[in-house]
Amino acid sequence: MHLHRYEKIWLAFGMGSLALFLVILGFAAFYKGMQPQSAIEVCDPNELDRIDDFKPENLGVTKVDDDQYIVNMVATAFNYDFGKDEDGKPVNKIRIPKGSKVLFQATTKDVIHGFEVAGTNVNMMLEPGFVSRYETELKNPGEYTVVCNEYCGVGHHLMFATVEVY
Ligand code: CUA
Repeated sequence: MHLHRYEKIWLAFGMGSLALFLVILGFAAFYKGMQPQSAIEVCDPNELDRIDDFKPENLGVTKVDDDQYIVNMVATAFNYDFGKDEDGKPVNKIRIPKGSKVLFQATTKDVIHGFEVAGTNVNMMLEPGFVSRYETELKNPGEYTVVCNEYCGVGHHLMFATVEVY
């Protein structure tokens, strides 16, 4: 088979790049021990109520200090569980004062879900068996929709919540 000279050059370039990227990936993963953010802490998805952060009474927004908040959330198909309000109704909207530091801690009981607070830099993948954390400062007041951006089943498009920054 005859290969044109340019074709050989581009083939070599393509294969070379592939090899280079695999070496970089292998170096990062195996030598540097780099993992997805959520792989740092494991949890048993069937026994989440034994983990303090994910006990039903600790879900939702907690003020830990001046301008410092923690938001705990457990996702299931097709719901974001932020705990219950005083009337025992499920919370679907959380409120955070603007400019405060917020640590989001979340996981899922069943399948992979997304936790994206659209319009902010909060965007986590929730994997069963892993705890996802992200700390941020929500500076701009407004209502932000939390959307699931990982296809999780027939009710995927029904999975949402609201974060209000006031
Ligand atoms: Cu949960 Cu898509």
